[in-house]
Order: sequence, then C-alpha cells, then structure tokens
Amino acid sequence: MINIALPKGRLGEKVYKLFAASGYEFPEILDNNRKLIFENQELNLRCFWVKPFDVPVYVERGAADIGAAGKDILLERNPDVYELLDLKTGFCRMAVAAKNDFVDDPEKVLRVATEFPNISQNYYSSLGREIDIITLRGSLELAPVLGLSDVIVDIVETGTTLKQNNLKVLNFITDLSARLIANKSAYKFKSEKINEIIRRLNP
Ligand code: PRP
Repeated sequence: MINIALPKGRLGEKVYKLFAASGYEFPEILDNNRKLIFENQELNLRCFWVKPFDVPVYVERGAADIGAAGKDILLERNPDVYELLDLKTGFCRMAVAAKNDFVDDPEKVLRVATEFPNISQNYYSSLGREIDIITLRGSLELAPVLGLSDVIVDIVETGTTLKQNNLKVLNFITDLSARLIANKSAYKFKSEKINEIIRRLNP
C-alpha cells in the first residue's frame, strides 16, 4: 500500500485532478464531506487530506510515503525528504509587498509580516538587511495597512489581493509550484511503485 498526503484546499484539488487524470482515482474524494482518508483497493493506494503546511511532516516521518507540497512550504520547513517531481501546477511567486506609497528607509530595521519566517530571514540575510519578523497566519495584507508591519512576504498568484488592498510588489523572491515529495526510506523500499506514479504523473 502506498500512502499519499495531499494538501487540503485549492492546491490539493488541482493536484488531485492530476492524479485522477493519471488513472489514480479515489471515489468520493471531491464530495463535500468531512472525510479525510480515501482508499483505492484495486490500485493499493490510500490518500488523505492534511493541512498544506503539514504535508512534509507526514512524509518526513513516514506516515505518508509520498505527498504533494507547495515549494513555499518546502523552502520554509526544509524537510529531510526527496523532492521527486515538479507537478507544474499551483504556479505562483513569493514576493515582498508594501503599501502603494511605501518608501523604504534602509537605515531602519524593516518590520516584516509573514507566514514564512525562514524564507523571509534567508532572503533579507542575503541582502544584509536587519528585519523584525512578525509571524501571522493568513490575511497578511492587513498588516501594512494597519501599520503592524512595513512589508509582507507572501504568496502572489494573480496579484488581485494586493491590488484590492492598495499594496504593490516591491521584489519577487522566488517562483513556486507544487512538488511531489517522498519519504527517503519509502522511496528505497517502494521505488518501483513510486517510480510508476512519477512516470504517470509526469506532465
Ligand atoms: C494567498 C496569499 C494571498 C493570496 C494571493 O492566500 O496569502 O493572500 O493567496 O493570491 P492572488 O495574488 O491571486 O490574489 P490564500 O487565499 O491561500 O489564503 P490566506 O490569506 O489564508 O493565506
């Protein structure tokens, strides 16, 4: 049996559609219910929805053999897993954004609101800039508007959320997309089956 961790939410639905189009279907999975685990006994596969941020934890510790995670989460958590495939879906970018009229003072410590403290710290360390990180869980766009932070480090997909809150991109940090990851020992012992999944998924 291969156990697959999928990220609950928008990205997970896109990834699941890739699995389904590759012949890996799980009855009921897209039904609007609270069920978390689904089995395909014919293919000997089991998949489950977990919070996107938790996918690398399930995979690293072997509760899942493989999983799909956003590159943002992999960069942030730096799990000890194999990154096997760019699933070429969920394209977006990590960016620094601020109010439209923001003017940076490089002499000052920059207050950065983010869900990604490690990505933010690495980025500003590479620039030699001192920052004060304010870690939040979502709705980051509020932080500069309310004066909680100077900038945000967040995911930008269409740019609509920034625009509607009178914010602008200052810098792009990196491109992002969904990746297929594997537990290291599972990849060793179940390599045939996992490679078959990669072959079929490979866009
Ligand atoms: C993400 C991100 C932005 C938004 C960007 O939030 O944090 O708020 O999407 O998308 P856009 O550029 O297409 O507008 P998400 O909807 O995942 O929810 P969150 O605010 O709870 O993180």
